[in-house]
Amino acid sequence: MSELSVNHLLGIKYLNKKDIQLIFETADHFKEVINRPIKKVPSLRDITIANLFFENSTRTKLSFELAEKRLSADVINFSASQSSVKKGETLIDTVNNILSMKVDMVVMRHPKPGAGVFLSKHVNASIINAGDGAHEHPTQALLDSYSIRERLGDVKGKNVVIVGDILHSRVALSNIYALQLQGANVMVCGPKTLLPKYIKELGVKVETNLRKALNWCDVANMLRVQNERMDISYFPSTREYTQQYGVNKALLNSLDKEITIMHPGPINRGVEITSDVADSDQAIILDQVQNGVAVRMAVIYLLASKIKH
Ligand code: CP
Repeated sequence: MSELSVNHLLGIKYLNKKDIQLIFETADHFKEVINRPIKKVPSLRDITIANLFFENSTRTKLSFELAEKRLSADVINFSASQSSVKKGETLIDTVNNILSMKVDMVVMRHPKPGAGVFLSKHVNASIINAGDGAHEHPTQALLDSYSIRERLGDVKGKNVVIVGDILHSRVALSNIYALQLQGANVMVCGPKTLLPKYIKELGVKVETNLRKALNWCDVANMLRVQNERMDISYFPSTREYTQQYGVNKALLNSLDKEITIMHPGPINRGVEITSDVADSDQAIILDQVQNGVAVRMAVIYLLASKIKH
């Protein structure tokens, strides 16, 4: 029987090509399940999952919770702002207290890069990283690639540009690893100030001119400027950023081919993407969100099958 090479999903960096294939084949099955009138399977009735969110989330939090419930797992939710973390409890103490209530798996979003890896070394549970600071967001990259595969048939050989604030983006790093594992050609595009100095070491093309990047690509993944992770200004004004790195319908219509537009959300309408693009058939933004449930069901199911009771 096929199984994942890992016991945790801490980052795409730790996966291999076969892991991604297995996750996608499993997600295909769960996508069929969630389109049935009864959108639920009894697979994980013996599993309890804690969703620990130390940072805000709409899509990822709800998508994980729905994925867990569709698999019939028991679910508990933890939000740092309403917890005893505010009274000084450490991450390990918090998680060990939750695990003592017979919890098998932890889904965690945390503002600190490496928080998931740290936790996996100190607690006895399967850990899924739901985004750790500006480091990795593995399930986002998986659902992004799954959505490209769905729209274009395959990820291999496709030209994918990731546009915007690469420096502060966990989505960018996880996407770069995932796309390269599957044989896509990856480019990043943005102002020099928002491109990490080490970016070329990751084997990606680098472009600062958006029109050139869009003419090269089959898919453009537009990223939000992560103002909450910035303590200085990286460009003169939002208006200037939009002029140089925002996509709008006129720009897309002026290209010699139709490209697919993606965005992990939340979108800032009128900044990195205009409404006439975000709401068009060229954009697969809501398909990404829909596919997130099936992909997360697959990840949870495959990791749960490695837990020994
Ligand atoms: N894409 C994403 O991670 O969105 P949320 O922050 O709303 O979870």
